[in-house]
Amino acid sequence: MSNIKQELLSKIESKELVVGVIGLGYVGLPLAVEKANVGYKVIGFDVLPEKVKLVNEGHNYIGDVVDEELAELVSKGVLRATDNFEEVASCDFIAIAVPTPLDEYQQPDISYVEKSTKDVAKYLKKGSIVVLESTTYPGTTEELMLPLLEEGSGLKCGEDFFLAFSPERVDPGNKIYKTKNTPKVVGGVGDDSTEVAAALYRNVLEGEVFTVSSPKIAEMEKILENTYRNVNIGLINEFALIANKMGINIWEVVDAAKTKPYGFQAFYPGPGIGGHCIPLDPFYLTWKAKEYDSHMRIIEASGSVNDFMPEWVIERSMKILSKNFKKALNGAKVLLLGVAYKNDIDDLRDSPALVVYDYFNKEGADLSYYDGYNPSFKYGDVEINSLKEITPEVISSYDLVVITTNHSNVDYQMVVDNAKYVFDTKYATKDVKNNKDNIELL
Ligand SMILES: NC(=O)c1ccc[n+]([C@@H]2O[C@H](COP(=O)([O-])OP(=O)(O)OC[C@H]3O[C@@H](n4cnc5c(N)ncnc54)[C@H](O)[C@@H]3O)[C@@H](O)[C@H]2O)c1
Repeated sequence: MSNIKQELLSKIESKELVVGVIGLGYVGLPLAVEKANVGYKVIGFDVLPEKVKLVNEGHNYIGDVVDEELAELVSKGVLRATDNFEEVASCDFIAIAVPTPLDEYQQPDISYVEKSTKDVAKYLKKGSIVVLESTTYPGTTEELMLPLLEEGSGLKCGEDFFLAFSPERVDPGNKIYKTKNTPKVVGGVGDDSTEVAAALYRNVLEGEVFTVSSPKIAEMEKILENTYRNVNIGLINEFALIANKMGINIWEVVDAAKTKPYGFQAFYPGPGIGGHCIPLDPFYLTWKAKEYDSHMRIIEASGSVNDFMPEWVIERSMKILSKNFKKALNGAKVLLLGVAYKNDIDDLRDSPALVVYDYFNKEGADLSYYDGYNPSFKYGDVEINSLKEITPEVISSYDLVVITTNHSNVDYQMVVDNAKYVFDTKYATKDVKNNKDNIELL
């Protein structure tokens, strides 16, 4: 057994290992906390000084992290943050969890992974391991990171340091599955890299650690997971479009279909798809596929259905106003309920509700929103503020209330009882008693 592997494995076992987490966002901060919780010394790195400051003051800013837990780890000195990458030199295990967005042409923007890898390479010490956790196209670890790390550090992978890919699967807001108890997949550059990375995760997590034969397998399986969601949402959105034309309640259809105990998983339609993962990740693969003269036809088709959904919300809203009130959308008072991309979280990234907001605004609607999780958001350079509260008087003052996120902290019975009309794109009104016949579902 190589010396550096042996050393790392015994540091993992004895908890002497120093862990560096690069990127302290929705993924990185919970990762840092979990590792510190089991006794490793953790240094978090971020380019945003305000995040570094918050962590060092013990202030939490991520929904899935417990405030008191973070504060205690910081006060005990086991977790701290910095924007000084020289400190990478004291880390044995470096996890990278930086953003992997798309650019304006829907192409992968891999610049965050590239920059952070170069920063790590400068200070990488012999006998350490680097693990990428960001979602990305198959090939990133070996084709992009490996040469950057070797050139930048002068060290050799497999002899002087190890390198692996292990995708993060956190589902923000999920009450049952957190970073700690979600199974983890690991694929290293060579068996030693896989073994060391898997050993660390087995020490930290309760979920199964499943090893695969290469980083590419791990990279592609993560894209497969997210593509599976993306195309199934695209499929049900397409069903929703035709069901509406046929006068069929799609939500009742899904509720009926999901009684089948095998071979069917329920997905739900909505005003589009959002978040930093599901709308973007499949397009990392469509981009890479072009290198192989291939098109990912199902991903493209699903993307076009999902991207159409916000337009459909506007079209339906126009029809509702015209049919029921002989009103145009231009000048109508419209209230959007919820701007987060999913229920009970504060994450606005790629939220379809914001696309809907933009379309309504461009059509000249007199627009407001209410979202108890998101008191404000930036619309271009303008700060838009949520209504402070929604009372019967407030609700009744709008021509149309559009439910764009099904947050559970809204009294939907009150909304329906007082609204002139409700367009529910999320089936939030499922359990509401409606005597006024003033609801339309997506
Ligand atoms: N959010 C999720 O639900 C989720 C789930 C699974 C996987 N992922 C993947 O995890 C990765 C990170 O996502 P996220 O949601 O945590 O993003 P995020 O934007 O919440 O956090 C990323 C952090 O990295 C920091 N950062 C950017 N460049 C940096 C650099 N060069 N060095 C150090 N820090 C840097 C940012 O300031 C930010 O704090 C993405 O690839 C994403 O696809 C996200």
